[in-house]
Amino acid sequence: MKSVFLICCVFLLCSFSGAVEKTIWLNEMDLTLFDLEIGQAMKNTTMMGSPIIISGVTYENGVGVTTPAKYLIELNGNGTHFYAEVGPCEMKFPGRPDGPAPGGDDKKPGGNGAAPAGTPGPGVPRMSPTMDFYVLGDKQVLWHSGTMKNGDKAKIADIDLIGVKKLALVVVSVNGRGPLGGMAAWVNGKITYSGDVTPKAVTNKTVSGNAPKILTPAESELPKINYPKVIGATEGKPFIFAIPVTGKKPLQVTIDNLPKGLVLDSGTGIITGTSPAQKGTFILNVTVKNSLGEAKDKIELKVGDLLALTPPMGWNSWNAGGMSVDQVKIRAAADVIADKLRGHGWAFVNIDDGWQADKRTDEGLLLTNHKFSDIKGMGDYIHSKGLRFGIYSSPGPRTCGQAIGSYQHENQDAATWGKWGVDYLKYDWCSYGSIVQDNSLDELQKPYKMMHEAIVKTNRDIVYSLCQYGMGDVWKWGPEVNGNLWRTTMDIQDNWKSILNTGFTQTNNADYAGPGHWNDPDMLVIGTVGWSRDTKPTKLSPDEQYSHFSLWSLLSSPLLIGCEMDKLDSFTLGLLTNDEVIGVNQDVLGHQAKLVKKGSDFQVWAKNLSDGSKVVGLFYTGDTESSATDPVKMINWGDNKTEPAKLISIDFNLLGLTGKQQVRNLWSQQNIGTYDGHFETEVNFHGVGLIKLSAIK
Ligand code: GAL
Repeated sequence: MKSVFLICCVFLLCSFSGAVEKTIWLNEMDLTLFDLEIGQAMKNTTMMGSPIIISGVTYENGVGVTTPAKYLIELNGNGTHFYAEVGPCEMKFPGRPDGPAPGGDDKKPGGNGAAPAGTPGPGVPRMSPTMDFYVLGDKQVLWHSGTMKNGDKAKIADIDLIGVKKLALVVVSVNGRGPLGGMAAWVNGKITYSGDVTPKAVTNKTVSGNAPKILTPAESELPKINYPKVIGATEGKPFIFAIPVTGKKPLQVTIDNLPKGLVLDSGTGIITGTSPAQKGTFILNVTVKNSLGEAKDKIELKVGDLLALTPPMGWNSWNAGGMSVDQVKIRAAADVIADKLRGHGWAFVNIDDGWQADKRTDEGLLLTNHKFSDIKGMGDYIHSKGLRFGIYSSPGPRTCGQAIGSYQHENQDAATWGKWGVDYLKYDWCSYGSIVQDNSLDELQKPYKMMHEAIVKTNRDIVYSLCQYGMGDVWKWGPEVNGNLWRTTMDIQDNWKSILNTGFTQTNNADYAGPGHWNDPDMLVIGTVGWSRDTKPTKLSPDEQYSHFSLWSLLSSPLLIGCEMDKLDSFTLGLLTNDEVIGVNQDVLGHQAKLVKKGSDFQVWAKNLSDGSKVVGLFYTGDTESSATDPVKMINWGDNKTEPAKLISIDFNLLGLTGKQQVRNLWSQQNIGTYDGHFETEVNFHGVGLIKLSAIK
């Protein structure tokens, strides 16, 4: 009786004081809220899908991340203890010394076992990263691992959390980022807490406070001829080009001097046929009419050696579906582009990785996998919409997604693509790293030269996109191997840091861009993205998306939409259909903007246009220096939810301008006024002011 009474007392005491401790494992929390620049946090594996190994020890329970990594957890003062072991991960796959995961599981980021977005192919030099792990509580450093390097034994964080409201786990890497920089893990991580409220991960995103606002004016019903105003072709090739026209339907397009061999469908503005057999510039006098009026303009068809006279505009499947892409999605993308975007110049529909079968035929022919039962029919469908069809492969034996590459089958593969009607090839280095002899320029160029020779034999105009992440300063020699565009960076991700690392780093290569030859800081990460079947709205804020699109336009970057086209929302559509902003990107001069002014939290970029005007982007980048290394500043503690706008100014002499200038806001398509010597404007956090300055005569 006495003992029953005692047990009851202990039970009551525990339940009333709330002293019963519970545990939540880190790997059971919502890992999608781990804030990484590249990839996503993985339960019990590294981001590459390999086991978590720290200094030779394999851990079954852990969270694999890439650096820098940030994770914010709401404890509400209920936490009592945090425990984790941390360290840099070794990259080992069973049976493989190094390299990407074998294929098979399309649930992994990147799908089908592909190296996740942002992952370089093997052969891209890896740095030897160092990294610092931090546990923070309410803006204080509670624990710091010190600087750790590959091979170091895991260190133990074992700390009290009494009174802590917000817990943050941060990994900082000073000398590298992502897979190039570092794979890190928090293993056996757990939080003990009391009370009924379970610790919960929350978003670390800094909120700019601005809701999505469509700045692009509603599409006019009047007939209009948009960009591009120039198109390149080589002699006597299959030709397809849709005159970019908008306005209330039905529209009627006429061209009074179309060269022989070309046919115009006047209801759609689509020109098909064979390009002229002689080199030369053909000026097409275009008229578009509807019930409300007519518009006239000239479009130049330049038959010569160069394709892509303006940066290619289109869509690519990678940032949306990763390896999960299939022909239904491609056709659906073609439908949306033809319906909503073609009139604004969007022209390519490109399949990225994930279309290839596992085996070649006995004759060595490359086949499609089950997701592409009729690729030729799909290509024909794309063409029937007045759009052009792009494909993807690697010079290595395997692509980055572990599909079959074109190594030793270059001519055969190019011939196959020719038969399918391909108009664009993205050729991605990936496993060519295992073939290359050394880092010499010859070796870097070799596979790209070889494939160019093969595609020339197809008798098609194939825009050639080199993808090797900028190795060997590719912008210096891309034209030599006949590349029309070349990636200059690692893969883009949908976060601001990634935009800073890709777009905002493109000033030193500016002089190498021009008609036919473009620096490519990777595809657009607006709309619904995800690199797998599991897509979500981009993590970029609306202001960040305006900056992204404005900068890519200023940079004359290829514009390849990377979102799910069947989930195109009105905000994203607004971003993609502003003809004045697109006009900056598609300007015939092909000048790439340069950085003209920089402060610790802002940048001003300027581009020359063919009409003598300048386009200037005033970007409020936010503090890019201390927030990259100070762990406390890397966390959004919730007390600065709305960052105020900032006044950014530019002196006209920094732009090489004298005299009065008419200033036009390109997103709203409105003149703001006349300015002399200087312009300044309020810019939202991570946002942009995009203006055009035209001299007043
Ligand atoms: C990466 C490339 C990505 C995508 C992917 C496909 O190397 O940078 O853009 O093409 O491979 O596996």
